[in-house]
Amino acid sequence: MKRTVRRSLWFLALPALAAPVLAAVTQGGPSGAKAGGNPFELKFSAPSAAHGQALSATCQGCHGAGGVSTNPDTPRLAGQGAGYIRFQLTAFRAKIRPSPVMQRVASHLRDQDIADLAAYFAARPVGTAWKTEDAALRAQGQALFQGGDAKRNVIACAICHGPDGRGEDRLGVASVTNQSPGYALGVLHEFKGAPSFGGIIHPEAMRIALQPLSEADLRAVAAYLSSMK
Ligand code: HEC
Ligand code: HEC
Repeated sequence: MKRTVRRSLWFLALPALAAPVLAAVTQGGPSGAKAGGNPFELKFSAPSAAHGQALSATCQGCHGAGGVSTNPDTPRLAGQGAGYIRFQLTAFRAKIRPSPVMQRVASHLRDQDIADLAAYFAARPVGTAWKTEDAALRAQGQALFQGGDAKRNVIACAICHGPDGRGEDRLGVASVTNQSPGYALGVLHEFKGAPSFGGIIHPEAMRIALQPLSEADLRAVAAYLSSMK
């Protein structure tokens, strides 16, 4: 429920900002940020994963030790792309991505903290797979994820997320390996059900990719990605 319009809200509210945002936060390295009044702009020097680890003590209660959440409602951060983590934390801090909990957490973070936390979690091993009782469902999800279904215009998820599901942070593609089936399904519903993002490429890529998938397909790919090796 709480995630229903998360992405549509923050991208649709700021369509003009989204492109520079992605450029500044996703690809911006130590010197990537530019002046220009962008509330998402981060200024940081070489990230320190060690400092990120120290700060992460406050995240573990919810996101699990080392970012390997065992709570199916809380996303795993271990092995997620650093640029993706920076972008999400900045969106929470700017109160663009809804989540009372994360907006409060992020309000205490300085730019350098965000970069350090992202560096720490990005370097963590993705953790163990979630148990899926239904092997047939998982196999069906694997077929769609890896191969798509040309007859139904289903693009293989692996084309963007990679055969291992680890994404491509440089291009703003999230890692999906070992997200919980429940969290993944919630996110898939959200993207699929969102109105068009008006050409904003990252969420729009997902929205379009999901249109031909049925509810059963979504459950199957969620089951599969939660159990990737
Ligand atoms: C009280 C619990 C709680 C704490 C503490 C917490 N988080 Fe979260 N976090 C959440 C929940 C729940 C979500 C999912 C929010 C949503 O989508 O509605 C989330 C989402 C996120 C996301 C987005 C992940 C994605 O895949 O989109 C990031 C990044 C994140 N948290 C980082 C952190 C960091 C870093 C800390 C510590 C500084 C932290 N969180 C502390 C509960 C928490
Ligand atoms: C054309 C490229 C593309 C295809 C195909 C694609 N994705 Fe994505 N996916 C993305 C991008 C880009 C993002 C990040 C979106 C954003 O930041 O708003 C994403 C995000 C996600 C997320 C959210 C991760 C998180 O932590 O919140 C999940 C889950 C996901 N994709 C699953 C899938 C599945 C399952 C499929 C196949 C049915 C798929 N994707 C097909 C590009 C794609």
